Amino acid sequence: MGSLLLVLLFPLPWVSGLPFYNGFYYSSSASGRSLGNSHSEGIFSGVKLVVETPEETLFSHRGANVTLPCRYHYEPALVSPRPVLIKWWKLSENGVPEQDVLVAVGLRHRSFGGYRGRVHLRQDREREVSLEIRDLRLEDCGRYRCEVIDELEDESGLVGLELQGVVFPYQHPQGRYQLNFHQAQRACEEQDAVVASFEQLFRAWEEGLDWCNAGWLQDASVQYPIMLARQPCGGLGLAPGVRSYGPRDRHQHRYDVFCFAAALRGRVYYLEHSEKLTLAEAKEACWEDSAQIAKVGQLFAAWKFQGLDRCDAGWLADGSARYPVAHPRPSCGPLEPGVRSFGFPDPQSRKYGVYCYQPC
Ligand SMILES: *[C@@H]1O[C@H](CO)[C@@H](O)[C@H](O)[C@H]1NC(C)=O
Repeated sequence: MGSLLLVLLFPLPWVSGLPFYNGFYYSSSASGRSLGNSHSEGIFSGVKLVVETPEETLFSHRGANVTLPCRYHYEPALVSPRPVLIKWWKLSENGVPEQDVLVAVGLRHRSFGGYRGRVHLRQDREREVSLEIRDLRLEDCGRYRCEVIDELEDESGLVGLELQGVVFPYQHPQGRYQLNFHQAQRACEEQDAVVASFEQLFRAWEEGLDWCNAGWLQDASVQYPIMLARQPCGGLGLAPGVRSYGPRDRHQHRYDVFCFAAALRGRVYYLEHSEKLTLAEAKEACWEDSAQIAKVGQLFAAWKFQGLDRCDAGWLADGSARYPVAHPRPSCGPLEPGVRSFGFPDPQSRKYGVYCYQPC
């Protein structure tokens, strides 16, 4: 693909082929030396290419536009600028292979895969090559490499991007430990979420998540977060923390799953209705209100980011019944905020209302 790319992109004189490096062909004819050596100052007339990216991870929201900053300069400054090739790519993580995001030379650029049409280079200032990503998706989280390649050098910097979101444990309707890894991925998707990464679970643990059932994470390891050591959850001898069973077989082994839902732009609400509903009636009632029955991930996101607080249990799309409490009070379950669950009741029972979701 590298050679195809360059043919399409730029018939620049220095890109006439060979040697192969980093997925690209480009010519070293200017110097006759091999390329891609980032420790090349001293060899190349003492001029060093420096790429700068922020050290802190950026946090943004699903659906937002975000700019991943990146600039480069030369030390000492160059009198006549060299043409550069800019390549942004996403690092391989959690079993997802490395992905090309954007390649640019001068004013020409090309974007790839799910990034096509959603990314462009921001060059507001001189030697700025920041990446703007529009309409952020759940799967955009991760680490991005900003690579600057000129005739002689190849330098890069990393930018971390995380979405504001909430981690929640999810169990199959038939109970504990029913999901292999592939089913776990589908289960989270059906809740408008993705399988959580270890970093996301760890952050949730730091914020107080305590769950005594082990669940899949994005890298196909199985772990669970414990705040308070206790007998049935690995015993009293272990310190609080995220405990791991290590990598498990994606097909054979079955556990629960930790899903990650991002903050929403739409609205989740308890439908005011004169009577309690069966599951089928609940779906119908939301539909009549120009909405859809809410998914579990949407309820968690509304609870976490919009402070949704309601002491009435309602049906959700997966057939579970739950209610979100942001401000704990007597007769609304435990003393901590949380989304309370009644599991998966008989779909014909008329004991619950319904939570609906209206995208905006
Ligand atoms: C993102 O940028 C596009 C194009 O500039 C704009 O139309 C859109 O409203 C922006 N979205 C947000 C959430 O700011």
